[in-house]
Amino acid sequence: MNRTSWSLSAALLSVLLLWAATLALADSGKPSERYTRVPAGADGIGERYMGRDIAGVMGWQGAAWLEREEREREERTDLLVTALQLKPGMVVADIGAGTGYLARRMAPAVMPGGRVLAVDVQPEMVALLQRTVRQSGLTQIQPLLGAEDDVRLPAASVDLAIMVDVYHELALPYEVLDSIVSALKPGGKVVFVEYRAEDPQVPIKALHKMSEVQIKREAAAQALVWERTVDTLPWQHMLVFSKRNKKDLQSPASP
Ligand SMILES: C[S@@+](CC[C@H](N)C(=O)[O-])C[C@H]1O[C@@H](n2cnc3c(N)ncnc32)[C@H](O)[C@@H]1O
Repeated sequence: MNRTSWSLSAALLSVLLLWAATLALADSGKPSERYTRVPAGADGIGERYMGRDIAGVMGWQGAAWLEREEREREERTDLLVTALQLKPGMVVADIGAGTGYLARRMAPAVMPGGRVLAVDVQPEMVALLQRTVRQSGLTQIQPLLGAEDDVRLPAASVDLAIMVDVYHELALPYEVLDSIVSALKPGGKVVFVEYRAEDPQVPIKALHKMSEVQIKREAAAQALVWERTVDTLPWQHMLVFSKRNKKDLQSPASP
């Protein structure tokens, strides 16, 4: 090979490598391509996803609010747990479990044989969670530390994943929901509980509420099918989705 053809081959190789790198980047769906920078208000992180400004995470310093005495009356968490239709033996993932207020109320319903995997992203919150769980004596609750973009649960291991007042403040909602869907067993369910944005009477800041339409829009980015909406709670709505099975994914047009 003479010097000219060697230079030509090297140039061609560089172009091919550049092209492959561009394709790989486009395919990776990097977070920066999903999220738009916006001016950060007092309650937001300065990122927009599917037309929604993402709220900032409730810091562990505010944990007492999650355990406030009036919560049961304000949010009727008893109705919430009943509406989940939990059964003995189920593996439930409480994503963004906070102090474990909900995990402790769900735990009796999965016994005997079930577990509640209580995941949070703040190590300080997980430490608080470990304490409340120890005090409750509910050994079926397992506190776990997740990552900002991944719940870090084994694939196909969970029957039902629930996020109570969590999804709107995920810094990377697409990535976290994707990791939740991977962790669901075939036919497993993911439940969003969010303060109703449609209702001005709900005394919660705008960025910490979500409308039913927006939840459905964001869930549609994943292999999820809407099953039902529970509207019996005073401030929140609860949307239940189930994981689409592989057959549905391969033939969406089949009757
Ligand atoms: C408003 S609190 C709700 C806590 C609990 N679900 C409850 O209702 O009592 C939101 C929680 O979500 C957690 N969180 C935020 N981003 C998360 C993520 N990527 N993965 C897991 N937890 C997350 C926060 O650390 C915080 O504890």
